[in-house]
Amino acid sequence: MTNPPQCPSIITIDGPAASGKSTVGQRLAQSLGYLFFDTGIMYRAVTWLALDRSMDMQDEAAITSLAESAQIDILPPSKEDDRTCDVLIDGEDITWEIRGRNVDANVSIVAAYAGVRRALSAQQRRIGQRGHVVMVGRDIGTVVLPEADLKIFLDASPEERARRRFEEIRARGGSPDYQEVLSKVIERDRIDSTRSVAPLRAAEDAVVIDSDRLGVDEVLERLQDLCK
Ligand code: CDP
Repeated sequence: MTNPPQCPSIITIDGPAASGKSTVGQRLAQSLGYLFFDTGIMYRAVTWLALDRSMDMQDEAAITSLAESAQIDILPPSKEDDRTCDVLIDGEDITWEIRGRNVDANVSIVAAYAGVRRALSAQQRRIGQRGHVVMVGRDIGTVVLPEADLKIFLDASPEERARRRFEEIRARGGSPDYQEVLSKVIERDRIDSTRSVAPLRAAEDAVVIDSDRLGVDEVLERLQDLCK
């Protein structure tokens, strides 16, 4: 007798900026009763702290030791302001601060530093290896959890991703400029995919999904089918 097929325990979703990884990843995790872990939060938190301390973004050694010593916590939401979790660094609530323009503009510089990646991906790996997890980022299927049972690479055109980010900022009460959002998305993709350490790319065994013409529900349905 054969055993019934099992749901993959470690699921990774990688992809470029604003491809919808967090939205679908979170819903997938919820439907499976898994932990959802958005690794971008950690890079954003270290970037926010470096900016808050007016550090030089080019000072790799100083930013690396910051990443090694910072206490980043991700906890269930304590407020009803559309947040999906609380993000704390050294005890301070920075949930919304990490979504600011200044963090957006600097996070890819910080994330390109080898020592920063070493410090943060070790923590991500420790948590991911426990299983029953949906982990999203840029290098989860390639570097952090290459042994994952199911790897997704979620893509979309820069224009569509900029449109989604534009709507997201508007929904939060901002008044973004589409062309500016688009050029920032393209610039961040460029840095993320050309860096020498853990560049953004699909793992060889990843399922690539182009979500240009797919809504959140449709992407989710595909992911759920892949889990069966
Ligand atoms: O929200 P969005 O998808 O645009 O980005 P994010 O997932 O919050 O990640 C912010 C930045 O962190 C990325 O542009 C990368 O530079 C970096 N990052 C990374 O290098 N590796 C990860 N596993 C996750 C994020």
